[in-house]
Amino acid sequence: MTSHSLPEGMVRAAGTAGTHEGYMPGFGNDFETEALPGALPQGQNSPQKCAYGLYAEQLSGTAFTAPRGQNERTWCYRIRPSVKHAGRFARIAVPYWKTAPHVTTAKDSAAANDIVSLGQYRWDPIPHSEEPMTWITGMRTMTTAGDVNIQVGMATHVYLVNESMVDEYFYSADSELLVVPQEGRLRFCTELGVIDLEPKEIAILPRGLVYRVEVLEGPCRGFVCENYGQKFDLPNRGPIGANCLANPRDFKSPVAAFEDREAKSRVVIKWCGEFHETWIGHSPLDVVAWHGNYCAYKYDLRTYSPVGAILFDHPDPSIFTVLTAPSGQEGTANIDFVLFRERWMVAENTFRPPWYHKNIMSELMGNIYGIYDAKPQGFVPGGISLHNMMLPHGPDRNAFEGASNEPMEPVFQDKTMSFMFETRFPQHLTEFAAREAPMQDDYIDCWTSLEKKFDGTPGEK
Ligand code: FE2
Repeated sequence: MTSHSLPEGMVRAAGTAGTHEGYMPGFGNDFETEALPGALPQGQNSPQKCAYGLYAEQLSGTAFTAPRGQNERTWCYRIRPSVKHAGRFARIAVPYWKTAPHVTTAKDSAAANDIVSLGQYRWDPIPHSEEPMTWITGMRTMTTAGDVNIQVGMATHVYLVNESMVDEYFYSADSELLVVPQEGRLRFCTELGVIDLEPKEIAILPRGLVYRVEVLEGPCRGFVCENYGQKFDLPNRGPIGANCLANPRDFKSPVAAFEDREAKSRVVIKWCGEFHETWIGHSPLDVVAWHGNYCAYKYDLRTYSPVGAILFDHPDPSIFTVLTAPSGQEGTANIDFVLFRERWMVAENTFRPPWYHKNIMSELMGNIYGIYDAKPQGFVPGGISLHNMMLPHGPDRNAFEGASNEPMEPVFQDKTMSFMFETRFPQHLTEFAAREAPMQDDYIDCWTSLEKKFDGTPGEK
């Protein structure tokens, strides 16, 4: 990976060299980091006067009284308190970034009523645009689910970004964002430090954290799961034990980095599905030191260690869960983020691809690279499929015939990385997804040629 120098004027904490440069390993750790020596108070959070004339401020990601194992907050020591990073708010239009519940207006309800979310859908990659698009203007919502006002559900977006934000910052009060790049490289300059992100990695940007997004190598395209509910967490492993799947040490949070920059700046805030702007005279990325466990992080999907069938049959795809966002009902996620990556297929006397099924959960998939085994054709890198709540789906005819007749030898499933955002809520198509995005009209034909093999006699067909 090519390293890019930091933005001009940014000061970053010294970190471990090599692959850890700029990051601290661990999931949900109680981190501490300072970009200037002695900026972080020791032994207390809120001294009468902070070093360097900094202001102490807490960012609470959970209710104060959340149980200890879920309680998340971070103490920031910053040049100005956050109240100086906002003035009066004015509502602005960000027409392609939608939020659940997506309420149509009288003006467009007739058109919107034609959209049928009940169906199996697939899209080609959303094409890049010549038009300049930032992290905010380049977000294209495909589906929404649940209700942001009661903090349940999610939205799925595709981002098309070819322009850096300059003197512009963003935060979402509605959600944490799970970012899955597919093309290009982005830099997230956040209040808590800098995350550089490329395909085969993911990042989590927590609710309320201010950041600016820069293009390191464009154009950039990727997927975003916007989580309105409880934060993503590592799944329990049950009988698998203490290792494999996603291991905590492979998650990386940035070390402190700040800029002391006076410039007219715009801050955009997403709040209850609406976008608002406010203008300030400086960069809000002014946290010199911080400690706590509420922070941004990234994860390299190549470090995910899949576990699967080693004799016959195969487990449910939940075996490939990287992160899960709970819903309050045990075992029923608001969102599961599931990864289908390279792995050995060794099961004997087994139909090895995913089986045919109907699911109370709704499944949105994206292809990061390569070929997905249940859909060898048509589901291409950058593409998306949606199998909504209780809609049957499964392998297409070619995949079925191939897998039903292949020799039962160990096969290495190479060059493949797809993912699923699976939610307990039905997903509703946006007008963009239904009308503007390159939907494949013939997707459901992939099952048309599946034959009836039954003729009343036993034996192989
Ligand atoms: Fe499925």
